[in-house]
Amino acid sequence: MDIKIKIIDRDGVLHEIDAPTDMNMNLMEVVRSYELAPEGTIGICGGMAMCASCQCYVKSDHGLPEKSDDEEAMLAEAFNVRENSRLGCQLHITEAMDGLEVELAPEEL
Ligand code: FES
Repeated sequence: MDIKIKIIDRDGVLHEIDAPTDMNMNLMEVVRSYELAPEGTIGICGGMAMCASCQCYVKSDHGLPEKSDDEEAMLAEAFNVRENSRLGCQLHITEAMDGLEVELAPEEL
C-alpha cells in the first residue's frame, strides 16, 4: 500500500507524496525518486549511514524505530544536527509512518 508523507525540501517547499510500503524503500530513496533534492546531494554513501547527506528533521509525532549505533555515530559527527534529526536512509517506509512530516536538513558542504 501507499502512505502519505510530507517532505519539506531544502528550499522550504512542502511536498505531499505517496510512498510505497511494499518496495523495501527507505526515506532517502523516496526523496531521490521524487527528485526533491538535486542528484549528488543526497544518498551519497548509498544508504550505509556513512555520509549524513540524507539527514532530515522529523516534525510530526511518530514513534519511529530507535536509531542504530551506526546512525547515532554518524549523527554525532554531522553538521546541523537537532534533537529530531534522523538519517533518512535508516528509516524504512512502513505503514506506521503514514502522515509523517519531515524536513530535509541543509546540504553539508
Ligand atoms: S545516505 Fe548516507 S547516511 Fe544516509
